[in-house]
Amino acid sequence: MDNLIDDISILSDQEKEACEVVKVSENKNTGKERKLYNESYGCQMNFSDSEIVSSIMAENGFDTTSNVEDADVVFLNTCSIREKAEQTVRKRLVQFNGVKKNKPEMLIGVLGCMAERLKSQLLEEEKIVDLVAGPDAYRDLPNLVSQVDDGTKAVNTFLSREETYADISPVRLNSNGVTAFISIMRGCDNMCSFCVVPFTRGRERSRDPHSIVAEAKDLFDKGYREVTLLGQNVDSYKWSAEQNNKARLEKMNDIEVINFADLLAMVAEIDSNLRVRFSTSHPKDITDKVLHTINKYENICNYIHLPVQSGNTRVLEMMNRTYTREWYINRVDAIREIIGQDCGISSDMITGFCTETEEEHLDTLSLMDYVNYDFSYMFFYSERPGTLAEKKYEDDIPLETKKKRLAEIIAKQQKHSLARNKRDVGRRHKILVEGFSKRSNDHLQGRNSANKVVIFPKGNFKKGDYVDVLVNDCSAATLLGNAV
Ligand code: SAH
Ligand code: SF4
Ligand code: F3S
Repeated sequence: MDNLIDDISILSDQEKEACEVVKVSENKNTGKERKLYNESYGCQMNFSDSEIVSSIMAENGFDTTSNVEDADVVFLNTCSIREKAEQTVRKRLVQFNGVKKNKPEMLIGVLGCMAERLKSQLLEEEKIVDLVAGPDAYRDLPNLVSQVDDGTKAVNTFLSREETYADISPVRLNSNGVTAFISIMRGCDNMCSFCVVPFTRGRERSRDPHSIVAEAKDLFDKGYREVTLLGQNVDSYKWSAEQNNKARLEKMNDIEVINFADLLAMVAEIDSNLRVRFSTSHPKDITDKVLHTINKYENICNYIHLPVQSGNTRVLEMMNRTYTREWYINRVDAIREIIGQDCGISSDMITGFCTETEEEHLDTLSLMDYVNYDFSYMFFYSERPGTLAEKKYEDDIPLETKKKRLAEIIAKQQKHSLARNKRDVGRRHKILVEGFSKRSNDHLQGRNSANKVVIFPKGNFKKGDYVDVLVNDCSAATLLGNAV
């Protein structure tokens, strides 16, 4: 049990790729009394939340450790998006129980989306869980830990309409010191019928733009060169002085509402050497104004994650995505027109959603041919308890059919990724260096504006540098080249 992280082989390759990798807190010893081991699953928002949790815990006497056996408190920040994600967490809880047998005073807490979905059920079902805290309850964690210290199990799954943790300065975990995530909003109001997020994360709310800009500026001053603005639907970011805090109205020169395009510009203007990325864009809400803003600022990266889910309008309607195939195509055309052919576009897709026919599946494949995505996260449908789809529709597509369709879209995406990367061969790309390549310390790795990983011999360059690289070779996943 020395290194639990090696056991992540229980995740499928698809899940590893689909952001569902695990991130573990690293050793930070500042002489505090107790130690926290934190493991996060799921999306970037969850990883970003773990940084907030670590900050709250650090204020309350906890250093972090990367070794579960040294920990006084173990937190699992969990994901509920697909059944597999929850199964992974359950397996981990059993493993942690093994560690706890030799260390009965160790406290095990479940945080995040699974905590919110299952609430106190987790305490009853999983006898080894001592504490359950939902995504809006992290300020209460020190208090919940004290409750457990005093001998009672502790639960807080209250969902807030206001909490954005705006004033908390996150402790950067697993950081390369160059790129960082900033949460700009929380929750989701969209109610896609397959999706559990509105139930686990609550109502959508936007964070004060001043606190976002201050966080980005602080990161830049500390040497970071790229921020990714995070939200489930960044295009519906909306902060109004009137709604949120009247006193700030004057400071903002009477601009009454800050929308996502405004926020992007505010962050981009911090410094032209600070790259700005964002995720996730919703096809129904992404405006031409946002696209023009991306085009206007060289440091806003030319990359848009625009999940389509399905290429068929009837299926999209059943998914409650509120756009049609034609609307989606129109948004892709607008991206190509306003930003250009080189703008990276990626997607999320679900195969085998309730009642999906073979012809409708072919519509997803033909849409992929139209868009030529650089990259996609692809899944087969997994029914989630409590969602609209679970209540209204039968999960009627056999697993083999879901998997067969998934294999077909994965194969198509592989071809498109390779073709899109081949277009980049023979061209110069501006790369922000993130560190050594995974395979060799003689090579550096970074990304171009379109979010593609580029590897090149290190020369005299280092982390945080911008380097012009002439790409001379590629695979479906990576570009290779030399500094020029
Ligand atoms: N807010 C983002 C998506 C967040 S969830 C958006 O609207 O695009 C990430 C992805 O998980 C989704 O885009 C979807 O493709 C997938 N997903 C969500 N619920 C799912 C389910 N029940 N079964 C399979 N995949 C699912
Ligand atoms: Fe889920 Fe839809 Fe919200 Fe994305 S936009 S988090 S898919 S409900
Ligand atoms: Fe998972 Fe919750 Fe994110 S369900 S994908 S961790 S918002």
